[in-house]
Amino acid sequence: MNLHDNGYDLDEAITHIVNRYGSKSTALIMVLQDVQKHYRYLPMEALKAVAKKMNLPIAQIYSVATFYKAFSLTPKGKHHVCVCTGTACHVRQAAVIVDNLSRSLNIQPGETTQDGEISFETVNCLGACALGPLVTVDDEYHGNMTVTILNKLLNELRTGKMAKTTEEVK
Ligand code: FES
Repeated sequence: MNLHDNGYDLDEAITHIVNRYGSKSTALIMVLQDVQKHYRYLPMEALKAVAKKMNLPIAQIYSVATFYKAFSLTPKGKHHVCVCTGTACHVRQAAVIVDNLSRSLNIQPGETTQDGEISFETVNCLGACALGPLVTVDDEYHGNMTVTILNKLLNELRTGKMAKTTEEVK
């Protein structure tokens, strides 16, 4: 996504988002969440525009943007795959899932495929340990993950035929 699409230029987009939450500093996280949803990351030009519109120092905005792991200063893929590597998932071979994903996508956790289609990252716990090893694809949970199921999911993602649940791809 570039900075001038969706019918908005950057200033219009930021004005629209800031007006939604107001310009008090307490609204900053919600504003940044919507900016990231709009651009799929936080472009530096957008952070400067937020600073101007909310009348906050750019240093404050940058420190919030870099403090929270949910925010990214680099472009994210159209799809987002997240592998849990917390203890419960780790003992159920989460590392094998991570290795396979790295090899299939040719990227490391935290990176995005060259075509901008898929981002991949790891997290410490997704809060559903009994389902481990657990993977989320575009925020949907897929428990009891195996390499075979993962490869089917990736294939479905790439062809735009994502199944709704892990059960559907077994
Ligand atoms: S350790 Fe994976 S969901 Fe909790």
